Amino acid sequence: MTIAQRAGLEAIAPYKQGIAPRTIHGLEPFKLSSNENPYPPLPSVTKVVAAAAANIHRYPSISADALTNALAERWGVAPGNVALGAGSVEVASQLIHAITNPGDQVMFAWRSFEAYPVLITVAGATPQPVPLTPEGGHDLPAMAAAVTPRTRMIFLCNPNNPTGSVLTASAVEEFIDAVPTEVLIVIDEAYLHFNDDPESAIGMDVFRRHPNVVVLHTFSKAYGLAGLRLGYAIGAPELIVNLRKVAVPFAVTALAQEAGIASLQAEKELQERINVLVAERQRVYVGLLDAGLPVLPSQANFLWLGSGIHTDALASLFEDNALSVRAFPGEGIRISVGTPDSNDRVLATARQAAGLLTPRL
Ligand SMILES: Cc1ncc(COP(=O)(O)O)c(C=O)c1O
Repeated sequence: MTIAQRAGLEAIAPYKQGIAPRTIHGLEPFKLSSNENPYPPLPSVTKVVAAAAANIHRYPSISADALTNALAERWGVAPGNVALGAGSVEVASQLIHAITNPGDQVMFAWRSFEAYPVLITVAGATPQPVPLTPEGGHDLPAMAAAVTPRTRMIFLCNPNNPTGSVLTASAVEEFIDAVPTEVLIVIDEAYLHFNDDPESAIGMDVFRRHPNVVVLHTFSKAYGLAGLRLGYAIGAPELIVNLRKVAVPFAVTALAQEAGIASLQAEKELQERINVLVAERQRVYVGLLDAGLPVLPSQANFLWLGSGIHTDALASLFEDNALSVRAFPGEGIRISVGTPDSNDRVLATARQAAGLLTPRL
């Protein structure tokens, strides 16, 4: 007997996690394939998580009032503007479920965060990818022109994963003015804390000006809590109410809630780590450029090599050096910024790569 299942799932590839580094004798392996924070959680955060572990026989608070209030205070909004999820990817999924009817379109730049097309298709909506510019940025005029009567939602990923490009405040304003006000604009700022471009759009500023804008933030990147799964949206209360309806009950654990609150109280210490990663990003960027590799400037905690047809060969070289990176065959390679040791290895590999691939790159 075969189980009768929903049609169409065979066409959906599940989300692929960044690979682990290969074991190479004599080399410490470094995972640079998932844009994680390479530093372990702060002791103040692990302390509250350990304490909360004593109560895991109880369900977490479904309203998560303490964390919701702390986030509302952090951003100067009302608690009714904040919705939580098990990572911002889950909040993105809530948004799609709350906004779209079957067959509605959800637009995003491509290439961007790989979960977008998966989440959209699984929700029964239709992905509407719009190619990036040759410089790896969102093509906002093309996106505005591609809006149809069925377009219900648009993701803007700023900085963009995997290219690291930013959207300027003025370009985003112009874009929002060109898009019908009933279309929800989602500004996904997973890498916000690493973005020091003064021209960049800031999601919260845009949200305060436009009621059809919602901002997505995560504790996974700068705050280093990827394994605990915590993200949130800030948006209009009438949208937030519906996100809470479509959310999986109890998806945000008590451990994640406690860790989130503790992280908000430790922002100064976390900022020191962010500063180190941003400085390292610049060092790696310059080193990759010096090695002659086609690296793009980035405002996130990763760098993009537009290696095109050389991608497989280059990715193998990184793997042979016990570095796992994210390779997109035929397009390029995304390398997360890690600890200085891992970044040194990236640069040493890049120098080998330049010798190997020049002048074809
Ligand atoms: C652009 C973007 N948004 C959202 C996420 C999801 O992060 P999380 O679900 O861990 O909060 C990621 C993770 O890589 C990302 O790159």
